[in-house]
Amino acid sequence: MIAERRTTVPESFTDSERRLADYEVLLEIGVKLSRTLDLPTVLETALETAEQVCRAETSSIWELDEETDELFFRVVRGQAAGEIRHLRVPMGHGIVGIVAESGVAELVNEPAADPRWHGDPPGFRTRAILTVPLRVRGAVIGVLQLLNPVGRGLFTEDDLQRMTLFAGVLAPPLQNARLYEAQERQFLKMVTALAETIDKKDPYTGGHVRRVVSYSMLLGAELGLGRGQLKELWLAATLHDIGKIGVPDRILCKPSPLDADEAELMKRHPVFGAEIVAHLANPSVLVGVRNHHERVDGRGYPDGLREDELPLVARIIAVADTYDAMTTSRPYRAGLPPAEAAEEIFRSAGTQLCPTVVGAFRVLFADGRFELAKSEEVLRSIYD
Ligand SMILES: [Fe+2]
Repeated sequence: MIAERRTTVPESFTDSERRLADYEVLLEIGVKLSRTLDLPTVLETALETAEQVCRAETSSIWELDEETDELFFRVVRGQAAGEIRHLRVPMGHGIVGIVAESGVAELVNEPAADPRWHGDPPGFRTRAILTVPLRVRGAVIGVLQLLNPVGRGLFTEDDLQRMTLFAGVLAPPLQNARLYEAQERQFLKMVTALAETIDKKDPYTGGHVRRVVSYSMLLGAELGLGRGQLKELWLAATLHDIGKIGVPDRILCKPSPLDADEAELMKRHPVFGAEIVAHLANPSVLVGVRNHHERVDGRGYPDGLREDELPLVARIIAVADTYDAMTTSRPYRAGLPPAEAAEEIFRSAGTQLCPTVVGAFRVLFADGRFELAKSEEVLRSIYD
């Protein structure tokens, strides 16, 4: 660990030896940051390093919202984190806003005597503040701030210099991760719009895609999927019925049950969907789309895969899709009440549906957590 190495620099080091050790740390952290485009990873790594290099109680990164000209907390660690998480500071206001506007780092060792200081949240006392701008090609994109040095009363000029150097290393990878995330959000919006276009063709199942996405997120989180896997699941669930664009409207919108030929044609939608998605998604998303109508007993379609051959993404979407289909009314049959649909899901474990996923469904349902609104938190954890 890079930060651990820094803390082991002996007190007997001369100034030049200490400086060399600092550069080494910065070089290593620069290499580490440049290896990822994942914004939360960049932010966490940055704060962890900043706190340990300068040994501070609390640290935060503020990002500039160009639309409102305000700074907001992108990430905050340490004591008082919860209290200040939702603060927004206008450019030019407070120490953070002034550093962002001027682009000049500041060391404030007596905040109470500084008229720009807006006071502490309850239960926290700020003794010293170190604030440095994050600049990319001359423009400030945010601010890195440390509060209260650990084991000493005040921050020093040496700390200020070290953090200024670190900010120079941090800003470019941070900007890359921000741009990558913005691009990803744009892609997700386009995918959602595309999926909802198809969804709207069927007036009887309106909102099906969003509900399947929500249920899939709840199941995925309950099964312990990581952020990357949840993102793939989100994409696959959003696109799971995209292949219905290849099914004629007279079948897709038919207000009565399908006959055998029509049902056969409808059953081709996962294959159509996989063909479309093949151009824009990775293999995990692809199988989620192609195999969401498989059954664990091998009697599903289009490939007749069995449980051990079925990717988890497809098994999760199958449970979400089945539950929504059962609880949604069609012109020729009323949707089941949730408790009855849940009983059906329980009974289908091991034949149609995966017992592991049904197990997660059972826990969520029993706890009253299998609710559309409760998926918002999971969605935020992926994209906020
Ligand atoms: Fe489907």
